[in-house]
Amino acid sequence: MAKYRADSSPLKVDLGVGVYRDLSGNTPVLACVRRAEQAVLTAQTTKSYVAAAGREEFNSAVEKMVLGPAHAARRDRRARTAQTPGGCGALRVGAELIRAAVPAVTVHISDPTWGNHTPLLGSSGLRLERYPYYDAAAHQLRFDAMLERLDRAAEGDVVLIHACCHNPTGADLDPAQWQALAQLLTRRRLVPFLDLAYQGFAVDLDADAAGVRLVAEQVPEALIAISFSKNLGLYRERVGALIVIGENETRADAMQSHVLQIARSIYSMPPDHGAAIAAHIFANPTLKGEWIEELGLMRTRIAEMRGLLAQQLRKATGAATFDFIRTQHGMFSLLGVSAQAVERLRDKHHIYMTADSRMNLAGIMPHNASYVAASIAAERLG
Ligand SMILES: Cc1ncc(COP(=O)(O)O)c(C=O)c1O
Repeated sequence: MAKYRADSSPLKVDLGVGVYRDLSGNTPVLACVRRAEQAVLTAQTTKSYVAAAGREEFNSAVEKMVLGPAHAARRDRRARTAQTPGGCGALRVGAELIRAAVPAVTVHISDPTWGNHTPLLGSSGLRLERYPYYDAAAHQLRFDAMLERLDRAAEGDVVLIHACCHNPTGADLDPAQWQALAQLLTRRRLVPFLDLAYQGFAVDLDADAAGVRLVAEQVPEALIAISFSKNLGLYRERVGALIVIGENETRADAMQSHVLQIARSIYSMPPDHGAAIAAHIFANPTLKGEWIEELGLMRTRIAEMRGLLAQQLRKATGAATFDFIRTQHGMFSLLGVSAQAVERLRDKHHIYMTADSRMNLAGIMPHNASYVAASIAAERLG
């Protein structure tokens, strides 16, 4: 980021950041958020404390949005939700819960995965192991290897799963693969920890939660970490939630009681402002409709840039090697080139991405796509 900022070239392209960018290169405040924020400020009469679980109306709206209105876990009162400081807060509280319940357990994380998963889960003292997920050079999932590895995990182990828009690969499981994974988790008595940070960024709010809903229907216990940083653009407000699903009501209550104890011991209470805005949007049909529209615009822009870059790469390379960029989901894809090629793209072409060749497609604009494609074509080998 520092190198990008210091680069004075007019050609420079930032594909390294982790946030959404519009066509002007801005990370905008959504219009629905602006309107909800006004309403929240007008109606607010106190800044007194809320609770360790945050806002009740936020939690119940989130639970419904993630699990769907008719989910078995909700019907059987086995789901409990607590507002957290962003998705990171949910991941960390979930990690502490696991550590307190079964200190010797292993958490299996995908190879590759989002860089922050390791510190967020690992610093609670949990043992982390990687399961094969994606072959960056071949640009495809390693689903058979993933299942084969998880089949050898110890009973009771935890499996961290990206719910949609896998970060950094953009490669998601299809419905049949979700089904196979859910069956394996159930058969081997593994506990899924689902990370849902991009609901609405792949297809829509319901479709993007389909994997989570399916898994949560089949296993007795699950954890779900949710972030509203991306889909509501509320990054700095720290809006997230942790859903825990227990085997029965008593177990779910016990899990939630631990969650709140952990929250109290780390940050006491989650920040309220962003959650108040989110809850206001979720409860107001007009604002919710506006949000779904704005979310659709962000999703469409990314999909269009995926298509444009893939097309330009076809033109520049004369091959279909990079067609995978078109069909993957969310903001990120791995270009699948060496760290040296990433360096050359930066030093010779002013194109910035992370060392693992993760590109944020929201950094692609209609005016820079052909330049980025030509540069990649020139540097992709070696
Ligand atoms: C995979 C994944 N999980 C969780 C998060 C949590 O984000 P936040 O704590 O900003 O809500 C992110 C954000 O980049 C993410 O990419």
